[in-house]
Amino acid sequence: MRITIFGATGLQGKSLMGAWSDDAVTGFGSADGDIRNAERVSDLVRRSRPDGIVHLAAYTDVDGCEANRDLAFDVNCRGAVNVAQAARQYGAHLLFLSTDYVFDGTKTTPYATDDRRAARSVYGRSKADAEVQLSQILPDCCIVRTSWLFGAGGKCFPDTILKLAASRPQLEVVGDQRGSPTYTVDLARAIVQLCHQSAKGIVHATNFGECSWYEFAREIIANEGLPTIVRETSSDKFVRPAQRPKYSVLSPESSQKHGIAMPDWRDALQRYLAERKTNVANP
Ligand SMILES: NC(=O)c1ccc[n+]([C@@H]2O[C@H](COP(=O)([O-])OP(=O)(O)OC[C@H]3O[C@@H](n4cnc5c(N)ncnc54)[C@H](OP(=O)(O)O)[C@@H]3O)[C@@H](O)[C@H]2O)c1
Repeated sequence: MRITIFGATGLQGKSLMGAWSDDAVTGFGSADGDIRNAERVSDLVRRSRPDGIVHLAAYTDVDGCEANRDLAFDVNCRGAVNVAQAARQYGAHLLFLSTDYVFDGTKTTPYATDDRRAARSVYGRSKADAEVQLSQILPDCCIVRTSWLFGAGGKCFPDTILKLAASRPQLEVVGDQRGSPTYTVDLARAIVQLCHQSAKGIVHATNFGECSWYEFAREIIANEGLPTIVRETSSDKFVRPAQRPKYSVLSPESSQKHGIAMPDWRDALQRYLAERKTNVANP
């Protein structure tokens, strides 16, 4: 297959670029073209002649989106629409990466693919609007929702915790938001599989299991054998511009229907921490 990736220079994009074996892959970052420019997007797709497009590019600063609403919608929604229109024009299958933040987090059991979107943040609304518009432009497109990404090559929670732990004897981490941490390497494998199947509709793809950010931080510290004490705090003591869902675990049922079984997040974290050590030893 010929694959074109928008957002290839980001956290997920870097993992995804390395995940294909028999396919011809072209990856674009913002320096290759701004997805807000429809003509440029169309030109990049025309020249790369893909069978499939994976659209990861987004303005992902969740708090920044609150202060920059227009930018958030321009990049996350209109940019995605530009990519979808180019996919339709050149007959390519589209896979769009979306987020658990399209939900409000009021449920206490895993979200199904057909649960109502009710985003609480500008970022979540911009991605939810993109999902709706993309399904209208390309009814056969695949929308993959994921959550709490971590991996090499970008800012991620385990790195932040380990950096803080290096200089502080004690950390406070919120315990009242629950989700599923997801390793970019595991998600990349799932995305490749979904592209090869030309999957349609909404698919939830996260590592298996759930935790709070507090539990996630404790697991990171325990894995590294550090003496740092992790204390649980609540979101109201750690106010941020964007509201996050209290609970955003995504049901794995839809990915299982595609033959995808994502490993447990604790197993994924151990593999990431091992990868991180190798990267530090061989920069
Ligand atoms: N991170 C998470 O925890 C998480 C959770 C759920 C869903 N997602 C979704 O997963 C996808 C990938 O996230 P990520 O964490 O890998 O993002 P990221 O590291 O912030 O990377 C964003 C990518 O988008 C590109 N980009 C940004 N604005 C652009 C523009 N105007 N024109 C062209 N390209 C632009 C960036 O290019 P440059 O780097 O070259 O500027 C980069 O390649 C996003 O769609 C996000 O909504 C992420």
